[in-house]
Parts: sequence; structure tokens; C-alpha cells
Amino acid sequence: MAEVVIVPDAATAGAIVADEIARLVHANPDAVLGLATGSTPVPVYEALPARLAGVDMSRVRGFALDEYVGLDPSHPESYRSVITREVVEPLGLDPARVHVPDGSLEGIEHAGDSYERALAEAGGVDLQILGIGTDGHIGFNEPGSSFASLTRVKTLTTQTREDNARFFDSIDDVPRHCITQGLGTILRARHLVLLAFGEGKAAAVAGALEGPVTASLPGSAIQLHPHATVVVDEAAASTLRFAEYYRYTFANKPAWQGL
Ligand code: F6R
Repeated sequence: MAEVVIVPDAATAGAIVADEIARLVHANPDAVLGLATGSTPVPVYEALPARLAGVDMSRVRGFALDEYVGLDPSHPESYRSVITREVVEPLGLDPARVHVPDGSLEGIEHAGDSYERALAEAGGVDLQILGIGTDGHIGFNEPGSSFASLTRVKTLTTQTREDNARFFDSIDDVPRHCITQGLGTILRARHLVLLAFGEGKAAAVAGALEGPVTASLPGSAIQLHPHATVVVDEAAASTLRFAEYYRYTFANKPAWQGL
């Protein structure tokens, strides 16, 4: 099962995950990073530049999980813009090596296959950062998504559109469709690192980690992955049945193991 790390706050989570990413990039200058958007990964992205100062980032590649369909890429809340602002610029990555699914309406029927091809050509993702939606989605794989799914267009649930309305002027501006890596795509990454903060995520986290493996809670797919790490604050961990065991395990973990 996933290793669960319970931390006091989001900044501590960001530091732990940024340390792991820095270790990866130091060991492999060709590392391929899987990038999430939304609020959750921000503490990781904020902690990274200090850890990677002076490191040659010119060969590092990145793949975003998802993008809104029909939102102009220059819109400040397109995931292309968010990844550029939060990751590409602060880390000095080569923009040509950082991919975001193409959410343009023209050619959308082929965009999923093209993205899967680009991922395969890059050799797959080494470390995939994940958040989780209050309805249990990872990427934008909403409840009911197949565990075998690859990058494709999905319809956002009303709950997800309401949750994401905070990034837009009004809920009417939140796109109804997205293009997202599938659960099958995400499960191919070599290391999954899921973060979650706040009480609002507690039910989704408990379901994903300790509930049945079910397409009704897409985050539960991580139970199928041989190397998954879940970093949560106390509030997001508040309904975990085995929380004491997770704390004990992490406190007694040999330092050489890393995350
Ligand atoms: C974003 C993504 C989503 C978010 C999730 C949580 O690329 O794939 O799964 O991680 O919606 O969003 P936040 O972090 O804003 O709570």
C-alpha cells in the first residue's frame, strides 16, 4: 500500500516532496516530472527553486496532468499558464520540454493520443505529483473513470466546477470539459506522490487509501501502484483509521529509503 506521511502543515509537506524531487533531478538530469495544478502542489513548487539553485535543469522534462478544453492557453487560469508561472519560469525549465495536453477545440479528437505518444517518447514519468478532488478525482478522472483509461476528454462534475470556481470570476466561466491523463496513464508513472491538505479532503483521502478500490473513487487507484507516497496534513488525515500505524512507520523508517 501507499506510504502515508502525516505532517503538521502544507509547508512541511512541500519541503519533503521538494527534497525528493531535488534528489531525483540530482541523480538523473533527464528526469521526467509529472506536474499537477490547483492549490495543492503550490508548497512543493515554492520550495523547489532553493533546492535546485545552480542545478542544470536544461534536460528535465515535465508533463502536466490535465487542461481545460476550450480555454485560451493565454488565459491566466489555463493549466498551460499555471505551469508556466509556477514551474517553468521559477525553475528555468526549457518550455519546449514541458508539455500540457492541448485543450484547443480544433483537433481535440486527436489530442489524447498525441499526448500519450509524447509521454511514451519521453520514456514515461519518473515522479508524478497528484492532488485529489473533494469527489475523489485524480487528474480530472471523475468518479466512474476506468482504471485503464488513457489521456482523453472528460466532463467535469458540478462539484469540481464549484470547487474550481474560486480561480475564475464566476462559475459560468469554469469550462465544462477537460482533457486529462487517464488513470491508466497515471499508474504508469514510476513514483506517485499524492498530497492533500485540509478537512475538506479528509473523506476523499480516507476513501482513496483505506476504502475499496473502486472507479467510484478514482483516487483509490493509487492502491494498485507499487510505489505511492501520500503526504497529508493533520486535517486531511483526520478520518484515517490507521493513522497511528502510519505515524509509527514513518518515524521508524530507515533514512536510506527516501520517500
Ligand atoms: C490538477 C488536478 C486535480 C487537482 C484536484 C485538487 O492538475 O489534476 O486533480 O489536483 O482538483 O485541486 P486543489 O489542489 O486545487 O484542491
